[in-house]
Amino acid sequence: MADPEPRPRKFAAPRGTTDVLPDDAPWWSFVRSTAAQVAGRFGYRRIETPTFEHAGVYLRSVGAGTDIVEKEVYLFEDRGGDTLALRPEGTAGVMRAYIEHGMASLPQPVRLYYVAPNFRYDRPQAGRYRQHTQFGAECVGDPSPLADAEMIDLLCTFYRELGLRHLNLKLNSIGDANCRPAYVEALRDYYRQHLDGVCADDRMRFEQNPMRLLDCKEERCQPIVAGAPRLRAYLCDACREHFADVQAYLTALGIGFDLDDTLVRGLDYYTRTAFEVQPLQEGSQSALGGGGRYDGLIELLGGPPTPGTGFGTGMERIILNLKRAGLEPPPPRPLALYVAHLTPEAAPLALRLAGDARAAGLQAVVASAGRSLKAQLRHAGALDARFAAIIGASEVATGEVTLRDLRDHSERRLAAAAAGDAVASEVPS
Ligand code: HAM
Repeated sequence: MADPEPRPRKFAAPRGTTDVLPDDAPWWSFVRSTAAQVAGRFGYRRIETPTFEHAGVYLRSVGAGTDIVEKEVYLFEDRGGDTLALRPEGTAGVMRAYIEHGMASLPQPVRLYYVAPNFRYDRPQAGRYRQHTQFGAECVGDPSPLADAEMIDLLCTFYRELGLRHLNLKLNSIGDANCRPAYVEALRDYYRQHLDGVCADDRMRFEQNPMRLLDCKEERCQPIVAGAPRLRAYLCDACREHFADVQAYLTALGIGFDLDDTLVRGLDYYTRTAFEVQPLQEGSQSALGGGGRYDGLIELLGGPPTPGTGFGTGMERIILNLKRAGLEPPPPRPLALYVAHLTPEAAPLALRLAGDARAAGLQAVVASAGRSLKAQLRHAGALDARFAAIIGASEVATGEVTLRDLRDHSERRLAAAAAGDAVASEVPS
């Protein structure tokens, strides 16, 4: 007997990616529209950059020895032989665009925001994906601590307007090119004596990226982190003053924060201010958002020396936290009108009636052809429609429709041309 035809392979979404199904769409719309509204109120304008860039944009800015560059970036060669990278984070591409489009000649600072997918070959778990979407904002061209405070204010306002509470803002200063080298030297001297006791990742960090030693989450490394020299003691006067001003502005804004001198962030471009927001009930690995100042980044990408500060916050984690807190997005618009039609001649009238209702700003759906009235009305119920219009042979003959209120099942007959307005008068658009 011949082999049966092999069944075509069924695909699942790649590991670490998620589908946003229609039931989840209201959450996404709510978070996206709140982001756009809050950013707009702070004077930020939207920017969209490509999903992939020349790999150097990220490799140079995010930094050797970071997890993103070492383990997570999706690198590929295209058919023309260029080495490209999928966006692992939002800031570097936006700075590339700032330089390329001469934004330095605009009135400074330039305030930009984006909502865009990022790709990191991370170990997937709840709230950690290989594709995630960030709402990010960047304030480019302002060296003052006021801009850092504005950034944190924007982020906190966004969370507040979503209804998120019980968040913890952690704040640190990681110094600049003036004072950090002496600190890194001291940190290396300290770790040199402890290299036997630390994890393998730490031994690599010791060589490539010593600041990240402070960020190690391994149990056995914690006592060593706790005894490490603190950067705050090494800050130069300018960094110290900048940090004091950020704190004073946050206090003036009524924004509470905890100083955390192990907060170094996972990207190399930061200078001075670094911050993260975490839900109180969660472990320290799951920041809801984070950011900081990156005064050397634009120069690193070939632009003129230009200060900058910004944040990124993950939409998936936000939605997870909204759900955990029992918060609901505003309900989606209801289906106002389901148009049932019983004969082939009724179909054109059904299409026109749905068009009238949509023109009045209502949501309307036309039944699929060839179903019984009972099946059509069952479908209307399943879609939670408010009204059903029924068009059969007698309605076609008189140019009328039967309008059924699906709450109380009352019916009335009216001119087809008047039905859209009749529904609109009872259902808010
Ligand atoms: P980041 O801390 O790497 O910073 O990411 C920002 C936020 O993106 C995180 O706090 C988290 O909510 C979300 N996120 C990051 N990785 C994942 C993941 N694998 N799965 C789900 N969510 C994730 C940046 O990317 C910087 N560009 C932020 C910034 C902007 N700094 C200055 N300007």
